[in-house]
Amino acid sequence: MANVAVVGSQWGDEGKGKIVDWLSERADVVVRFQGGHNAGHTLVIDGVTYKLSLLPSGVVREGKLSVIGNGVVVDPWALLDEIGRLREQGVKIGPERLRIAENATLILPLHRELDEIRENSNSGTKIGTTKRGIGPAYEDKVGRRALRVMDLMDLDALADKVEKMLAHHNALRRGLGQEPVDGEKLTAQLKEIAPEILPYMDSVWRLLDGERRKGSRILFEGAQGTLLDIDHGTYPYVTSSNTVSAQAATGSGMGPAAIDTVLGITKAYTTRVGEGPFPTELDDEVGQRLGERGREFGVVTGRKRRCGWFDAVLVRQAIKTSGITDVALTKLDVLDGFDEVKICTGYRLDGQVLDYLPGGAALQARVEPVYETLEGWQETTFGARTWGELPAQAIKYVRHIEELIECPVTLLSTSPEREDTILMKDPFED
Ligand code: IMP
Repeated sequence: MANVAVVGSQWGDEGKGKIVDWLSERADVVVRFQGGHNAGHTLVIDGVTYKLSLLPSGVVREGKLSVIGNGVVVDPWALLDEIGRLREQGVKIGPERLRIAENATLILPLHRELDEIRENSNSGTKIGTTKRGIGPAYEDKVGRRALRVMDLMDLDALADKVEKMLAHHNALRRGLGQEPVDGEKLTAQLKEIAPEILPYMDSVWRLLDGERRKGSRILFEGAQGTLLDIDHGTYPYVTSSNTVSAQAATGSGMGPAAIDTVLGITKAYTTRVGEGPFPTELDDEVGQRLGERGREFGVVTGRKRRCGWFDAVLVRQAIKTSGITDVALTKLDVLDGFDEVKICTGYRLDGQVLDYLPGGAALQARVEPVYETLEGWQETTFGARTWGELPAQAIKYVRHIEELIECPVTLLSTSPEREDTILMKDPFED
């Protein structure tokens, strides 16, 4: 039996929600290990749509343990709102079903404000963030001044910790022409919310060690995508956490040997939200058609996603940096009906052809995609559940992608419905 990490192999929005839900039915424990409520996972179960941001996808299923690991940044107010929304949909959420790492970092209102101020100002680099305070909270974590979930337990020491953090933030805010944050008010807000959060608090590394020794199946649920990784992504147009699979270990308190299979969720074309280089982006009617057919709007911010052809160079790179062992290909049906489809197989830069994305935003913005053109298919792939139902050209497209990215496609998703899946290999089987 294997533990599985699920990560995105592009810029997020690859359709992880459906696959994670499908896997979480067979997992015992589902763990989030990075990011926060910048993620948006849509699950459709028995015709009911659930929208999750911070909570692991396992929470909508009874009998599963959902864990928010230490690598996640937790906005306690957003967490309680999300729990409240799911309860209204009839999902029972309590500490027997959800645990939060005591050493997870808190996102505070001042982080959200700072994210927004920076994004709305013309100085500095506009990243196109989700304005949820993710980056500023991670900055405080690395700056060793962050508040963590366990700080909500020691209320006598809380005011002092808040003041130490504000020594940094209020200096920064004054420089940005903002009102300083009132430490007493913030401490009072945190004291008020503490009793609602603390019942979920746990020593997650110990909990997961126990589960592992019991032989539980653990599913690590990644958010965003490998190209948004703070180290391996298109820096600085990235999120502020490591999104590669190695973070599943660090962000949950387990060693790398705890992860057996790394399933890379990969869209059959490419999308990106926010700013930053995107070599295969299409500004024409093909891009528009991909966006419309693929309903490419963000779950969290409602922003329109940028669309383009499949970029085999980027995905191959993501497979290496994220240690992806198996690919789940999603949204193939969006390509139905095109006369021809293109795949990017290299980049032209200053008279040379590269088989990797060069480091640095300036070079990344200048690369020109080199395409291979394949014949399209007119028949539908929507809802297919066997290879036999797929048109020959669609099979050829998938097989060619496998060759280019140097990784097998072991799962094909052909609609948002969970049953519309072609499975070649069970990720939980060693
Ligand atoms: P942040 O994570 O809010 O700091 O945003 C940084 C970058 O990551 C921006 O380009 C966002 O659009 C992108 N991003 C963050 N979360 C997601 C996601 O769940 N899907 C896709 N893009 C995301």
